[in-house]
Amino acid sequence: MSRRHLLSIGDLSRQEFDLLLNNAEALLEISSRQLKKVPALRGKTVINLFLQPSTRTRTSFEIAAKRLSADAITIMEGTSSLTEGETLLDTAMTLEAMAPDVLVVRHSHSGVPHLLAKHLADTSVVNAGDGDHEHPVQAILDCLTLKRRFGAQLSGLSIAIVGDVLHSRIARSTLKAHALLGNNIRLVGPPTLVSRSFLGSEMKDVQIYHDLCEGIEGADVVMCLRLSQQAKEQGFLEREYAEEYRIDEEALARLAPRSVVLHAGPVTRGVEVTSEVVDGPRSLIRDQVRSGVAVGMSVLLSMITSSQVEVEQ
Ligand code: CP
Repeated sequence: MSRRHLLSIGDLSRQEFDLLLNNAEALLEISSRQLKKVPALRGKTVINLFLQPSTRTRTSFEIAAKRLSADAITIMEGTSSLTEGETLLDTAMTLEAMAPDVLVVRHSHSGVPHLLAKHLADTSVVNAGDGDHEHPVQAILDCLTLKRRFGAQLSGLSIAIVGDVLHSRIARSTLKAHALLGNNIRLVGPPTLVSRSFLGSEMKDVQIYHDLCEGIEGADVVMCLRLSQQAKEQGFLEREYAEEYRIDEEALARLAPRSVVLHAGPVTRGVEVTSEVVDGPRSLIRDQVRSGVAVGMSVLLSMITSSQVEVEQ
């Protein structure tokens, strides 16, 4: 893959997407070895610049870098000179002066990874979630999770994305990923959080439902979105949201009996989805986390080596 940055799923061709996905699948097995380390990125440096909270993505990239023998440094919100008034660009230029190979960036403002990619001459930038815009790594790891469940049939699936689409960068990246793969997408939620007006003209095949039962009926995959802080500030009360849109086992058993459930986390149990579903047999939530490390490895390898994966012992 000749691409220097990973900023948006929309930038990727089907071939590039498949390469990241297939390499990640090959890399999964490293995490089950006794010695979870290969020398692929020895001498390389990865900086995680996480200026918005994260458990899964930040830790996945740190572990992924270390399993590939890269040096990994994490800078988090509140611990950098940004708190002293240094600009984000000056911070990024300062980090680049230390010769990292990849900067993995999370920020609450949409477009920050793109801005840094434009200004950094020698460093690859990976978007680990920017504002409401995109979270391409999550979309790839969710597809890897589904590939492990559905095998080669990663097309023609009916995927219901339920919840706060308006504020979800994960939903935006997921829509683009499944458009590449040829899956059928339904968006399900209240009219103020789910509307056709959020979608580009290229997403005309996406179906919109405001009734949960209609939206999940016959779905192969139910993806629950987090109810964002912004939605709560707009007046969505967790209790009222849960009454209409919480995913529970009774509804799944009745309407989508063969479905699996995804949630990128963090989960608000009892609001977006019941604990019975989170901890039950249809839940792929822990598998998503496992996939995250492999996708982190695949992305870092692609950014740094631009070559086929060779996993040495
Ligand atoms: N899925 C996800 O982005 O989780 P974190 O916010 O914990 O990284």
